[in-house]
Amino acid sequence: MVLHRNLGPFDTTAIGLGEMPLTIENNLGPAKGVETIHAALDAGCRQIDTAWAYYCSGGEEQTGEKLIREAMSSWKGPKDEVLIATKVGHYRNFTDGKPTWDVDGSPENLIKCAKESAYELGVDTIDLLYLHRPDPKIPYGESIEAMKEIYDAGIAQTLGVSNASIEQMDIAQKILGDALVAVQNQYSPIYLETQDTLEHAARIGISFVCWSPLGGFRKPKDETKFDPFRKIAEAHGVSYQQVVLAWELAKDDHVFVIPGAHRPETILDSLKAGDLKLTPEELQMLP
Ligand SMILES: NC(=O)c1ccc[n+]([C@@H]2O[C@H](COP(=O)([O-])OP(=O)(O)OC[C@H]3O[C@@H](n4cnc5c(N)ncnc54)[C@H](OP(=O)(O)O)[C@@H]3O)[C@@H](O)[C@H]2O)c1
Repeated sequence: MVLHRNLGPFDTTAIGLGEMPLTIENNLGPAKGVETIHAALDAGCRQIDTAWAYYCSGGEEQTGEKLIREAMSSWKGPKDEVLIATKVGHYRNFTDGKPTWDVDGSPENLIKCAKESAYELGVDTIDLLYLHRPDPKIPYGESIEAMKEIYDAGIAQTLGVSNASIEQMDIAQKILGDALVAVQNQYSPIYLETQDTLEHAARIGISFVCWSPLGGFRKPKDETKFDPFRKIAEAHGVSYQQVVLAWELAKDDHVFVIPGAHRPETILDSLKAGDLKLTPEELQMLP
């Protein structure tokens, strides 16, 4: 069984499927996407992470949420056990011909996108809705007030913030109270700058969800950061990715990981990380 933990009111898996690679640039098509989601769910994964903005720049919007709806409607398992999280506040564009992630944290846009997310996911109420990223053009509290309006209208059961600093987490908790259940920040062996927010999440009683927990799907600048993980993986006869995820989960019980995958094989391997117990000596060798 995949390791379970409590995220707000949800009993879900500590390892979720990050949906982004299935619908942004270089994805392997919707059939492979559905196959990957079904493989994860069949293996016991009960958390999927998507966003309004997980589509290819210039292409059809919300394809990530549409793919999840399609996969959930054709999956024969217990749908009500699955926590589906999405995010609002980002959209795709081009800058100098390159696909980009732009932000619009205006209250009107957040409320409009939340309704669209619920519609495309095929639900009345979204399980967990994050504010994807602070918009420097909008005071953070204004974006968070819009999230409260979304919650009060019953469009989201619980709320999260993402790419948030300690100060922003505190602003969000002050306005949202118990509706705020998680912060989703980048965290991995190549990105430890958010350690302070991981610790703060524990202090204020919310979950910490690591995005790009394996360092992302682009080749990292410094591959050597993974060397100690590779060494431990060899001793256990598992992939180094499993060791990375197990190390993150060992940080504390409020930590979750959402590894991305383009295909069933990688998420099936990642889901085993909850069974991997690292010794205190091994954890000492890691950051
Ligand atoms: N909140 C935010 O602003 C934000 C930003 C970025 C990402 N995210 C979320 O975080 C999720 C994960 O991030 P990510 O997809 O960027 O990066 P990631 O999870 O760090 O890495 C994904 C890459 O790792 C590979 N992989 C995964 N498990 C593996 C395993 N067990 N063995 C070998 N390779 C493995 C995948 O390979 P294959 O490609 O071969 O399957 C994929 O290329 C996203 O899907 C998204 O949901 C959130």
